[in-house]
Amino acid sequence: MRFSKRMDMIKPSAIRSVQKRIAATENVISFAAGLPDPALFPLDDLEKATSKMIREKGELAFQYGLTKGYDPMIDKLVERMRNKEKIDASAANIILTTGSQQGLALCAMMFLDEGDVVVAENPSYLGGINACRPYGVSFIGVDTDDEGMDTKELDKVLAENPSVKMLYVIPNFQNPTGKAWSLQRRKDFMEVINKYDVIVVEDNPYGEIRFKGDFVPSLKSMDTQGKVVYLGSFSKILAPGLRIAWICADPEVVKEAELIKEGWDLQCNQFVQVQAVQYMEDFDLEAHIAEIQQLYMKKCDLMLEMMDKEFPESVTYTRPEGGMFIWVVLPENVDADVLLDTALEHGVAYIPGEPFFANGGPKNTIRMNFTTVSEDQIKKGIKILGDVLKTVC
Ligand SMILES: Cc1ncc(COP(=O)(O)O)c(C=O)c1O
Repeated sequence: MRFSKRMDMIKPSAIRSVQKRIAATENVISFAAGLPDPALFPLDDLEKATSKMIREKGELAFQYGLTKGYDPMIDKLVERMRNKEKIDASAANIILTTGSQQGLALCAMMFLDEGDVVVAENPSYLGGINACRPYGVSFIGVDTDDEGMDTKELDKVLAENPSVKMLYVIPNFQNPTGKAWSLQRRKDFMEVINKYDVIVVEDNPYGEIRFKGDFVPSLKSMDTQGKVVYLGSFSKILAPGLRIAWICADPEVVKEAELIKEGWDLQCNQFVQVQAVQYMEDFDLEAHIAEIQQLYMKKCDLMLEMMDKEFPESVTYTRPEGGMFIWVVLPENVDADVLLDTALEHGVAYIPGEPFFANGGPKNTIRMNFTTVSEDQIKKGIKILGDVLKTVC
């Protein structure tokens, strides 16, 4: 088959092959997922909102809509950006996307040419990295500490590499590490990037799942030069199956994204936009988010408590204040991918961390998810994993 040359740059994700290994093993307690807890989907409320909107707005919901998005949905997002993120947005700054994954793909197409360099946190979300790969770019990973990206290192990288075109960052409860950047680090980051001609893609699907600590403003809210493209999503605060997400950016960026979307899919699903607006009008999304925060905090606290008790002292891990993941660092001589076979034999699964590094990275890291497992599974699974770790750490 005469596929495009671009297809040579698209490789199956290393995580998918790990997930296949896990799926092939029966009765595992899996900390490998990256999904929200389905018990939190507000099914009854969504059913009521959906019936009502079909009755009252059915003709609108099943019809074609605007490429930019359904106007009442855009109004809700403008409100959200202003009230929750303190971003001075108007309708001209917003375009709906089919998941923030499409936002990432749109950014890659809009900004990247062959030979460009993308800077990402080390490690970072694989889906963001992979969205850039078809454009023939290379990557530079910049390390993060507990405060966020190392901005001194970033400054050096940007000064030495004029081909850096785009920075991809997840400042809130990052996938895979669960880390959140401090306010000072965000300010330092903005100061650095403002010196260079670059675009920053700020991916924020977890920001509203803060269950501890104080709100920290987004990079976009500090953006005085229109350089930050903010990606938001309903996947973690309502339901990922809806595929509702948005870009909040300079109107010039929104216009370009609209042009691309016309060719890709004409528009986002009109039905779910009308449905979600009806849900937000009739039910309390903020109260629902508070419920998610409470449950995730309980599960995260329990997992950390179990890790404190069961993991060997040579193993360290992040203590997230939100999101869905904990990042575990094993002693340097332990290969988390090899150890996964032993873990699976004992009935537990996790994701080895190495694939999250754009240019490859240390083999002794693990991503643990605490949202899809029950409290019983957390207790049992962490005890088992602790025993497995004690054999090698
Ligand atoms: C950091 C990050 N960005 C983007 C996405 C994609 O989210 P969406 O469901 O909005 O496409 C995910 C999904 O897990 C993610 O972790």
